[in-house]
Amino acid sequence: MATNDDQITAWNGPQGAVWVAMQERLDNQLLPLGRATADALLLAPGQRVLDIGCGAGQTTLDLGARVGAEGRATGVDISEPLLAAARSRAAIAGAANVDFVHGDAQVQAFAADHDAIFSRFGVMFFADPVAAFANLARALRPGGRLAFVCWRRPEENPLMTAPLAAAVAAGLPPPEAGPPDAPGPFAFADRDRVVGILTAAGFTDVVATPHDEPIGGNDLDASLDLAFHVGPLARLVRDKPDQRAAVTDAVRATLARHVVAGGVVLMPSATWIVTARR
Ligand SMILES: C[S@@+](CC[C@H](N)C(=O)[O-])C[C@H]1O[C@@H](n2cnc3c(N)ncnc32)[C@H](O)[C@@H]1O
Repeated sequence: MATNDDQITAWNGPQGAVWVAMQERLDNQLLPLGRATADALLLAPGQRVLDIGCGAGQTTLDLGARVGAEGRATGVDISEPLLAAARSRAAIAGAANVDFVHGDAQVQAFAADHDAIFSRFGVMFFADPVAAFANLARALRPGGRLAFVCWRRPEENPLMTAPLAAAVAAGLPPPEAGPPDAPGPFAFADRDRVVGILTAAGFTDVVATPHDEPIGGNDLDASLDLAFHVGPLARLVRDKPDQRAAVTDAVRATLARHVVAGGVVLMPSATWIVTARR
Protein backbone atom coordinates (compact mmCIF):
# COMPACT_ATOMS: atom_id res chain seq x y z
CA MET A 1 0.00 0.00 0.00
CA ALA A 2 1.35 3.47 -0.88
CA THR A 3 1.99 5.47 2.28
CA ASN A 4 1.25 9.07 3.22
CA ASP A 5 4.78 10.08 4.25
CA ASP A 6 4.85 13.19 2.04
CA GLN A 7 1.54 14.48 3.42
CA ILE A 8 2.61 13.70 6.99
CA THR A 9 5.77 15.74 6.46
CA ALA A 10 3.91 18.63 4.83
CA TRP A 11 1.09 18.91 7.38
CA ASN A 12 3.54 18.71 10.30
CA GLY A 13 5.84 21.27 8.65
CA PRO A 14 5.28 24.59 6.90
CA GLN A 15 1.86 23.69 5.46
CA GLY A 16 0.48 22.82 8.91
CA ALA A 17 1.94 26.00 10.37
CA VAL A 18 0.32 28.12 7.67
CA TRP A 19 -3.07 26.49 8.26
CA VAL A 20 -2.80 27.16 12.01
CA ALA A 21 -1.90 30.81 11.34
CA MET A 22 -4.69 31.24 8.75
CA GLN A 23 -7.32 29.09 10.48
CA GLU A 24 -9.73 31.86 11.41
CA ARG A 25 -9.82 33.07 7.79
CA LEU A 26 -10.08 29.53 6.45
CA ASP A 27 -12.95 28.83 8.83
CA ASN A 28 -14.74 32.00 7.66
CA GLN A 29 -14.34 30.72 4.11
CA LEU A 30 -15.27 27.07 4.62
CA LEU A 31 -17.92 27.27 7.35
CA PRO A 32 -21.00 27.10 5.07
CA LEU A 33 -19.61 24.11 3.15
CA GLY A 34 -18.95 22.16 6.35
CA ARG A 35 -22.45 22.90 7.62
CA ALA A 36 -24.08 21.78 4.38
CA THR A 37 -22.09 18.53 4.56
CA ALA A 38 -22.94 17.89 8.22
CA ASP A 39 -26.63 18.53 7.39
CA ALA A 40 -26.42 15.67 4.88
CA LEU A 41 -25.48 13.24 7.67
CA LEU A 42 -28.79 13.81 9.53
CA LEU A 43 -27.04 13.23 12.86
CA ALA A 44 -29.14 12.42 15.92
CA PRO A 45 -28.39 13.05 19.60
CA GLY A 46 -26.27 10.29 21.15
CA GLN A 47 -24.47 9.27 17.94
CA ARG A 48 -20.73 8.74 17.51
CA VAL A 49 -19.13 10.56 14.60
CA LEU A 50 -15.58 10.77 13.19
CA ASP A 51 -14.23 13.97 11.57
CA ILE A 52 -11.48 12.91 9.15
CA GLY A 53 -8.67 15.42 8.55
CA CYS A 54 -10.30 17.63 11.19
CA GLY A 55 -7.56 20.27 11.12
CA ALA A 56 -8.10 22.91 13.81
CA GLY A 57 -11.45 21.40 14.76
CA GLN A 58 -14.15 23.93 13.86
CA THR A 59 -16.17 21.14 12.27
CA THR A 60 -15.51 18.67 15.12
CA LEU A 61 -17.01 21.15 17.58
CA ASP A 62 -20.01 21.62 15.29
CA LEU A 63 -20.48 17.84 15.04
CA GLY A 64 -20.21 17.57 18.84
CA ALA A 65 -23.01 20.12 19.20
CA ARG A 66 -25.14 18.15 16.75
CA VAL A 67 -24.80 14.82 18.62
CA GLY A 68 -25.20 16.40 22.07
CA ALA A 69 -23.79 15.47 25.48
CA GLU A 70 -24.66 11.77 25.09
CA GLY A 71 -22.89 11.57 21.74
CA ARG A 72 -19.22 11.89 20.79
CA ALA A 73 -17.34 13.64 17.99
CA THR A 74 -13.76 12.51 17.38
CA GLY A 75 -11.44 14.53 15.16
CA VAL A 76 -8.66 12.61 13.40
CA ASP A 77 -5.62 14.25 11.82
CA ILE A 78 -1.99 13.58 10.90
CA SER A 79 -0.95 17.13 11.84
CA GLU A 80 0.28 17.72 15.40
CA PRO A 81 0.19 21.54 15.09
CA LEU A 82 -3.39 21.55 13.82
CA LEU A 83 -4.47 19.07 16.51
CA ALA A 84 -2.89 21.28 19.18
CA ALA A 85 -5.00 24.18 17.88
CA ALA A 86 -8.09 21.95 17.87
CA ARG A 87 -7.55 20.72 21.41
CA SER A 88 -7.05 24.25 22.68
CA ARG A 89 -10.22 25.39 20.96
CA ALA A 90 -12.25 22.49 22.42
CA ALA A 91 -10.91 23.24 25.92
CA ILE A 92 -11.89 26.91 25.60
CA ALA A 93 -15.36 25.89 24.38
CA GLY A 94 -15.70 23.36 27.25
CA ALA A 95 -16.74 20.71 24.71
CA ALA A 96 -16.64 17.58 26.90
CA ASN A 97 -18.02 15.27 24.19
CA VAL A 98 -15.26 16.11 21.66
CA ASP A 99 -11.86 14.45 21.46
CA PHE A 100 -8.99 14.22 18.99
CA VAL A 101 -6.80 11.40 17.70
CA HIS A 102 -3.40 11.84 16.07
CA GLY A 103 -3.32 9.30 13.27
CA ASP A 104 -3.33 8.55 9.56
CA ALA A 105 -6.94 7.81 8.59
CA GLN A 106 -5.70 5.45 5.85
CA VAL A 107 -4.35 2.96 8.41
CA GLN A 108 -5.57 4.00 11.86
CA ALA A 109 -7.28 1.12 13.72
CA PHE A 110 -10.68 2.63 14.57
CA ALA A 111 -13.37 1.04 16.73
CA ALA A 112 -16.09 -0.32 14.44
CA ASP A 113 -19.00 1.35 16.23
CA HIS A 114 -19.29 4.80 14.63
CA ASP A 115 -22.65 5.95 13.32
CA ALA A 116 -21.20 8.45 10.88
CA ILE A 117 -18.03 9.77 9.27
CA PHE A 118 -17.66 13.39 8.16
CA SER A 119 -14.93 15.34 6.40
CA ARG A 120 -14.50 18.92 5.20
CA PHE A 121 -11.72 18.75 2.59
CA GLY A 122 -9.74 16.17 4.60
CA VAL A 123 -9.99 13.04 2.41
CA MET A 124 -8.33 14.07 -0.89
CA PHE A 125 -4.78 13.53 0.33
CA PHE A 126 -4.60 9.72 0.63
CA ALA A 127 -1.81 7.98 -1.31
CA ASP A 128 -4.06 4.88 -1.55
CA PRO A 129 -7.63 6.18 -1.52
CA VAL A 130 -9.33 2.77 -1.93
CA ALA A 131 -7.40 1.35 1.05
CA ALA A 132 -8.13 4.49 3.06
CA PHE A 133 -11.88 4.43 2.43
CA ALA A 134 -11.99 0.66 3.08
CA ASN A 135 -10.38 1.44 6.44
CA LEU A 136 -13.00 4.14 7.09
CA ALA A 137 -15.81 1.75 6.14
CA ARG A 138 -14.55 -0.62 8.86
CA ALA A 139 -14.99 2.20 11.42
CA LEU A 140 -18.74 2.36 10.69
CA ARG A 141 -21.42 0.14 12.17
CA PRO A 142 -23.51 -1.64 9.49
CA GLY A 143 -25.73 1.02 7.91
CA GLY A 144 -23.48 3.85 9.16
CA ARG A 145 -23.16 6.90 6.90
CA LEU A 146 -20.35 8.88 5.31
CA ALA A 147 -20.53 12.49 4.08
CA PHE A 148 -17.66 14.64 2.89
CA VAL A 149 -17.13 17.75 0.82
CA CYS A 150 -14.39 18.03 -1.81
CA TRP A 151 -13.58 20.54 -4.55
CA ARG A 152 -14.73 20.19 -8.14
CA ARG A 153 -12.44 21.45 -10.94
CA PRO A 154 -10.04 24.35 -10.31
CA GLU A 155 -11.67 26.42 -13.11
CA GLU A 156 -14.98 26.27 -11.20
CA ASN A 157 -13.39 27.63 -8.01
CA PRO A 158 -12.18 31.16 -8.76
CA LEU A 159 -11.51 31.97 -5.12
CA MET A 160 -8.54 29.65 -5.45
CA THR A 161 -7.63 30.08 -9.10
CA ALA A 162 -8.38 33.76 -9.93
CA PRO A 163 -5.54 35.09 -7.72
CA LEU A 164 -3.13 32.75 -9.52
CA ALA A 165 -4.48 33.77 -12.93
CA ALA A 166 -4.10 37.47 -12.03
CA ALA A 167 -0.51 36.90 -10.90
CA VAL A 168 0.35 35.01 -14.10
CA ALA A 169 -1.26 37.76 -16.22
CA ALA A 170 0.93 40.23 -14.32
CA GLY A 171 4.06 38.35 -15.33
CA LEU A 172 4.61 35.49 -12.88
CA PRO A 173 5.73 32.29 -14.70
CA PRO A 174 2.81 29.81 -14.59
CA PRO A 175 3.16 26.64 -12.50
CA GLU A 176 3.77 23.28 -14.15
CA ALA A 177 0.59 21.20 -14.22
CA GLY A 178 0.86 18.04 -12.10
CA PRO A 179 -1.09 14.80 -12.57
CA PRO A 180 -4.80 15.58 -11.93
CA ASP A 181 -5.35 12.55 -9.66
CA ALA A 182 -2.32 13.14 -7.41
CA PRO A 183 -3.16 13.58 -3.71
CA GLY A 184 -4.14 17.21 -3.19
CA PRO A 185 -7.08 19.61 -3.07
CA PHE A 186 -8.44 18.74 -6.53
CA ALA A 187 -7.80 14.97 -6.49
CA PHE A 188 -11.55 14.22 -6.30
CA ALA A 189 -12.72 16.75 -8.90
CA ASP A 190 -13.81 13.92 -11.23
CA ARG A 191 -17.16 12.56 -10.01
CA ASP A 192 -16.71 9.14 -11.64
CA ARG A 193 -13.34 8.71 -9.96
CA VAL A 194 -14.72 9.49 -6.48
CA VAL A 195 -17.75 7.25 -6.90
CA GLY A 196 -15.47 4.47 -8.22
CA ILE A 197 -13.09 4.77 -5.25
CA LEU A 198 -15.89 4.57 -2.67
CA THR A 199 -17.59 1.69 -4.45
CA ALA A 200 -14.29 -0.23 -4.69
CA ALA A 201 -13.78 0.44 -0.96
CA GLY A 202 -17.08 -1.28 -0.15
CA PHE A 203 -19.49 1.64 0.31
CA THR A 204 -23.04 1.50 -1.09
CA ASP A 205 -25.57 4.19 -2.07
CA VAL A 206 -22.68 6.41 -3.22
CA VAL A 207 -23.95 9.79 -4.44
CA ALA A 208 -21.89 12.87 -5.37
CA THR A 209 -24.16 15.93 -5.41
CA PRO A 210 -22.90 19.20 -6.92
CA HIS A 211 -23.02 22.02 -4.38
CA ASP A 212 -22.59 25.59 -5.60
CA GLU A 213 -22.36 28.37 -3.03
CA PRO A 214 -20.51 31.70 -2.89
CA ILE A 215 -17.77 31.61 -0.24
CA GLY A 216 -15.15 34.00 1.08
CA GLY A 217 -16.23 35.77 4.24
CA ASN A 218 -13.03 37.80 4.80
CA ASP A 219 -12.35 41.46 4.04
CA LEU A 220 -10.14 42.42 1.11
CA ASP A 221 -6.86 42.63 3.04
CA ALA A 222 -7.44 39.30 4.78
CA SER A 223 -8.50 37.64 1.50
CA LEU A 224 -5.36 38.94 -0.23
CA ASP A 225 -3.13 37.70 2.57
CA LEU A 226 -4.89 34.31 2.53
CA ALA A 227 -4.39 33.96 -1.25
CA PHE A 228 -0.64 34.43 -0.74
CA HIS A 229 -0.52 31.82 2.04
CA VAL A 230 -2.92 29.01 1.04
CA GLY A 231 -3.76 27.63 -2.42
CA PRO A 232 -2.21 27.55 -5.90
CA LEU A 233 -0.81 31.10 -5.81
CA ALA A 234 0.76 30.47 -2.41
CA ARG A 235 2.50 27.36 -3.74
CA LEU A 236 3.91 29.39 -6.64
CA VAL A 237 5.28 32.35 -4.65
CA ARG A 238 6.52 30.38 -1.64
CA ASP A 239 10.13 31.46 -0.99
CA LYS A 240 9.88 34.19 -3.69
CA PRO A 241 9.11 37.44 -1.84
CA ASP A 242 10.23 39.62 -4.76
CA GLN A 243 7.78 38.00 -7.14
CA ARG A 244 5.00 38.30 -4.60
CA ALA A 245 5.52 42.05 -4.31
CA ALA A 246 5.45 42.44 -8.10
CA VAL A 247 1.99 40.89 -8.51
CA THR A 248 0.26 42.02 -5.32
CA ASP A 249 -1.59 44.94 -6.96
CA ALA A 250 -2.94 42.73 -9.74
CA VAL A 251 -4.20 40.09 -7.28
CA ARG A 252 -5.75 42.75 -5.05
CA ALA A 253 -7.58 44.29 -8.03
CA THR A 254 -9.02 40.88 -8.97
CA LEU A 255 -10.28 40.19 -5.46
CA ALA A 256 -11.60 43.76 -5.11
CA ARG A 257 -14.06 43.10 -7.93
CA HIS A 258 -15.78 40.57 -5.65
CA VAL A 259 -16.24 42.68 -2.51
CA VAL A 260 -19.92 42.68 -1.59
CA ALA A 261 -22.09 44.54 0.92
CA GLY A 262 -20.51 44.24 4.35
CA GLY A 263 -17.03 44.58 2.90
CA VAL A 264 -16.23 40.89 2.47
CA VAL A 265 -15.01 39.05 -0.63
CA LEU A 266 -17.47 36.46 -1.94
CA MET A 267 -16.80 34.27 -4.99
CA PRO A 268 -18.46 31.17 -6.44
CA SER A 269 -17.40 27.77 -5.13
CA ALA A 270 -18.07 24.39 -6.73
CA THR A 271 -17.88 21.23 -4.63
CA TRP A 272 -19.18 17.71 -4.46
CA ILE A 273 -21.02 16.70 -1.32
CA VAL A 274 -20.45 12.97 -1.38
CA THR A 275 -22.66 10.67 0.67
CA ALA A 276 -22.50 6.90 1.08
CA ARG A 277 -23.48 4.09 3.41
CA ARG A 278 -21.64 1.08 4.74
C1 LIG B 1 -7.39 20.99 3.58
S1 LIG B 1 -7.09 20.61 5.26
C2 LIG B 1 -8.74 20.65 5.94
C3 LIG B 1 -8.75 20.80 7.45
C4 LIG B 1 -10.12 20.90 8.08
N1 LIG B 1 -10.96 19.77 7.76
C5 LIG B 1 -10.80 22.19 7.69
O1 LIG B 1 -11.75 22.14 6.88
O2 LIG B 1 -10.41 23.26 8.18
C6 LIG B 1 -6.74 18.87 5.17
C7 LIG B 1 -6.52 18.22 6.51
O3 LIG B 1 -6.42 16.80 6.31
C8 LIG B 1 -5.37 16.30 7.12
N2 LIG B 1 -4.92 15.03 6.54
C9 LIG B 1 -4.31 14.84 5.34
N3 LIG B 1 -4.06 13.53 5.14
C10 LIG B 1 -4.54 12.88 6.23
C11 LIG B 1 -4.58 11.50 6.63
N4 LIG B 1 -4.05 10.54 5.86
N5 LIG B 1 -5.15 11.19 7.82
C12 LIG B 1 -5.66 12.16 8.62
N6 LIG B 1 -5.64 13.47 8.30
C13 LIG B 1 -5.10 13.83 7.12
C14 LIG B 1 -4.34 17.42 7.12
O4 LIG B 1 -3.42 17.33 8.17
C15 LIG B 1 -5.25 18.66 7.21
O5 LIG B 1 -5.53 18.99 8.54
